[in-house]
Amino acid sequence: MADHSDKNLFLHDVLTGLAQSLPEIPSKYLYDELGSMLFEAICTTPEYYVTRADLEILDSYLPQIADCIGPQAHIIEFGSGAGIKTSRLLDSLQQPTAYSPIEISAAALEASAVHLQHQFPQLRIEPVQADYTQPIANADLDICRDCRTRVVYFPGSTIGNFTLEQAQHFLLRIREIISRFLPEVNGGLLIGIDLFKPLDVLIPAYADAVGVTAAFNKNLLARINRELGADFDIAQWEHQARFNAEQQRIEMHLCSTSRQTVDVAGHKFEFDRGASIHTENSHKYTLAGFSEMAAKAGLKLQQHWTDSNGWFATCYFVPE
Ligand code: AVI
Repeated sequence: MADHSDKNLFLHDVLTGLAQSLPEIPSKYLYDELGSMLFEAICTTPEYYVTRADLEILDSYLPQIADCIGPQAHIIEFGSGAGIKTSRLLDSLQQPTAYSPIEISAAALEASAVHLQHQFPQLRIEPVQADYTQPIANADLDICRDCRTRVVYFPGSTIGNFTLEQAQHFLLRIREIISRFLPEVNGGLLIGIDLFKPLDVLIPAYADAVGVTAAFNKNLLARINRELGADFDIAQWEHQARFNAEQQRIEMHLCSTSRQTVDVAGHKFEFDRGASIHTENSHKYTLAGFSEMAAKAGLKLQQHWTDSNGWFATCYFVPE
C-alpha cells in the first residue's frame, strides 16, 4: 500500500464490509500487484473468453472503429493498465493528438506511458494517477483544446464490475467529460460490454479448471493478512462463481469450509460453515439493456461490433 491513508481506507472498507449481514469486500482490493498479475493470467485461460473476444473485435473492425472516431482525437482511457489494446487503437487512428491514461498504479502508468511515447512520438501523453471510480479534476484532462474529438475508452467490460447504480452514475460522469467542449470538439465513448450468454460458458469463465481465478480471489484474503495483520486461514476458504439471475451477474464469493473466527486488526469475525464473503460482481448485459442505461445518461449508440460468437460487444456512444 502506498501510504497510511490508503491503508486506513482499506482497513475501514474491510471492517465495514465484513460486519454486513452478507459480508462483502469491494472488488477494487483484488488488484494489488499479485492480484493484477493473476488477473493477467486469467485472461490467458481457455475458459475466460472476455479478453479474446475484445481483441478479436479490435482485430476485425479497427478500421471501422477508427472511422467512427475520426481524425485528431484525444483518447482518455479509464484504467489503462499495460496499454496493449490502446496501442492498437492509437495505431489505427488518423493523427491521434493526445492521450490521457488514468490508472491507480503508478508503476503501470509510467511503464505504459513510456512505451506508448516511444511508439507514438508525436502524441501528447499526460498520465493521470487516480482512482477512476472517483471524480477526476477537469484540469487533469484539459490537455487538448485543438483536438477534433474527445473519446473516453473503457475496454474489457470493466463497467460490468460496477453495480447498476454505479454504472449509471459512471456513464453520467463520462457524458460530462466528453461533452465539455461541444460543439467545437465532438465527444464519444468507446466501451466494451460483456453480453449475456449460456451459463455453461459463463460459469467456467469465472471458475477455470486450473484454479487461476480461485487464486485471484483468495489472494484478497492473503492481502488482508499481509497488509492489515489479519489471520485468515486461506485453506479454509473456497472460491465460488455464482450466477445471480435477478441481477444478471456473475458473483465471486469466498466460502468458509468450516465454522471459524477470524481476527482483523483486533476485530473478531465469526463465520459459519458455508457462510460467504462476496468479492466481485460481473454484470452481463444485453445491447438493448445497456443502451437504455446509456440513454438515461444522455448517450446514444452510434455503432457496435461483436465477436464471432456474439458474446462481447464494443460500442461507440455519442452525446444525444
Ligand atoms: C476486470 N473485469 C472485467 C473482470 C471480469 O470479467 O469481470 C474481472 C474478473 N474477475 C474474475 N475473472 C475476471
